[in-house]
Amino acid sequence: MRTGTITRVSGPIITVKGMKGAGLYDVVKVGEVGLIGEIIRLEGELATVQIYEDNTLMRTGEPAVCQGSPLSVELGPGLIGSIYDGIQRPLPALKALSGPMLAPGVAGKALDPDKLWHFKPALKAGDPVGPGIFYGEIRETQSILHRLVLDAATPKGRAAWVETEGDYDISHSLVRTEAGAEYKASSRWPVRLPRACGAKQVPSKPLVTGQRIIDILFPIAKGGCAAIPGGFGTGKTMTQHAIAKWCDADLIVYIGCGERGNEMTDVLTEFPSLIDPKTGRSLMERTILIANTSNMPVAAREVSIYTGITIAEYYRDMGYDVAVMADSTSRWAEALRELSGRLEEMPAEEGFPAYLPARLAEFYERGGMVRTLEGKGGSVTIIGAVSPAGGDFSEPVTQHTRRFVRCFWALDRDLANARHYPAISWNDSYSEYVDDLVRFWDGVDPAWNSLRIAAMDILKRERKLAEIVRLIGPDALPDEQRLVLLTAELIKMGFLQQSSFDKVDMYCSPERQVLILQCILTFHREAEAAMKAGLPLPKITSMPIRSEIVRLKSSLHNDETASGQEILDRIRRSFAEAGVGTEGAAS
Ligand SMILES: Nc1ncnc2c1ncn2[C@@H]1O[C@H](COP(=O)(O)OP(=O)(O)OP(=O)(O)O)[C@@H](O)[C@H]1O
Ligand SMILES: [Mg+2]
Repeated sequence: MRTGTITRVSGPIITVKGMKGAGLYDVVKVGEVGLIGEIIRLEGELATVQIYEDNTLMRTGEPAVCQGSPLSVELGPGLIGSIYDGIQRPLPALKALSGPMLAPGVAGKALDPDKLWHFKPALKAGDPVGPGIFYGEIRETQSILHRLVLDAATPKGRAAWVETEGDYDISHSLVRTEAGAEYKASSRWPVRLPRACGAKQVPSKPLVTGQRIIDILFPIAKGGCAAIPGGFGTGKTMTQHAIAKWCDADLIVYIGCGERGNEMTDVLTEFPSLIDPKTGRSLMERTILIANTSNMPVAAREVSIYTGITIAEYYRDMGYDVAVMADSTSRWAEALRELSGRLEEMPAEEGFPAYLPARLAEFYERGGMVRTLEGKGGSVTIIGAVSPAGGDFSEPVTQHTRRFVRCFWALDRDLANARHYPAISWNDSYSEYVDDLVRFWDGVDPAWNSLRIAAMDILKRERKLAEIVRLIGPDALPDEQRLVLLTAELIKMGFLQQSSFDKVDMYCSPERQVLILQCILTFHREAEAAMKAGLPLPKITSMPIRSEIVRLKSSLHNDETASGQEILDRIRRSFAEAGVGTEGAAS
């Protein structure tokens, strides 16, 4: 191991002399206490090192020891349910070691070295080994079977010996090859290197989030990338929390990146008590948290998203669907800007380094649906919050992010001010996954696409009419157009608004989503027919069934959609009782 001497300290960026022969991105233990750092630039024997811990009081002349390997995460059973900082130090263990404020230089084991896991071998002596070979399994949680698969860096060969079924810790050898290599339940992978896998596939299955505006109007596919841009307090974190809680991914990696500590506290206190609708188990049993809050070192924030995505890729390679939430990528970009400034690099737009778009692209590129080395399907879906200052979407982070994601859920300040939540704008948002997903939904529920088109059409017509209403008021419009306004109101209040605080409505099953929209659009069709048959609009406006439809989202439970036909019949009957309607003729 090479030992050098610190010659310059500029915040978290230091210069070390005597590092000749060290590798770019090698880990360095710096100073008397051995703070973790990473070489980010090499010039002869001078290395520029970025420090991941608080290095106040660091002095020149202190030693720095190059570890000779890049910054890596430890992968293995026990990751699920963990809470790590940006460089995968387990926060609860650190707290026990150093008290409530993290002491610099304190390290903890990312995975519990003493815990025994029940291993079932899948190989026997003489079997081939190499990339993608499944060598055994461990039940990590009730719903996650930890498949031990050899990674892309494994040389091809044959197994000379395989451990028998039994309980072992993570450093116990489970397979030995004829070439003498040993494989355990844990392994390491450099965070900045995407884990190699088979070919990328076109995303074709939806990530069902339980949020109506997302699932029906702007859906995301498993393996897709989405951005949630929004000004201060418009609901980025709430939307990410809602998706992390209710989406149908097998695992969630939640990266709290430079945001307030209390937002992570919400996750920590709330998630363990919530039940995953898919498995009926605690949500923490499918969640991994990476917390790097605003008061933690800025360089660790920069690396936290790589730590998170590497863990996600590891489970993807077992054949799972993993969803990564990053809140907020703007704080990450700010970390990049701060570090770049200290490196005295030439700034580009708004002081961000010229490589900002390249780094964003690299991050989102790690999402995708893939064929794993084993030949299974797995995916990493990435959902990144973007916090443009002043809600101005023309700033560089939002603009560049837009180029690399195919789903854009734009949060609207006016909607948030009007307490219309989620404040996702139906005018500015889009999803380019719709065409890929229509095929999937056609096989499950063909109504999905036709309802989505009809709802979008009404919202579009309302947008045009709103201009006229602003000029001359609603009374001047013909009844047919006023009905469009009425239905759009129903869509907004009864369908698009969804409170994360409503016990029933915080999660809306796909069946219930379709049913609520079907009710609204049935109302619209019946009303159109009734008006043609002579029923005046005020009579329709005063129908009690209207408020019943608006209330459906909190009165109809997810397990009550079997009564859907009855509700639709009740809507038709209301029109029949009002004197006219399509009952009998249309149904
Ligand atoms: N879906 C929702 N249901 C109910 N309330 C919501 C919802 N979304 C947002 N809110 C309200 O908006 C407030 C702000 O939301 P949130 O903290 O998610 O905003 P943010 O965009 O993350 O803010 P910041 O820029 O400070 O990070 C919440 O405290 C909550 O009251
Ligand atoms: Mg937030």
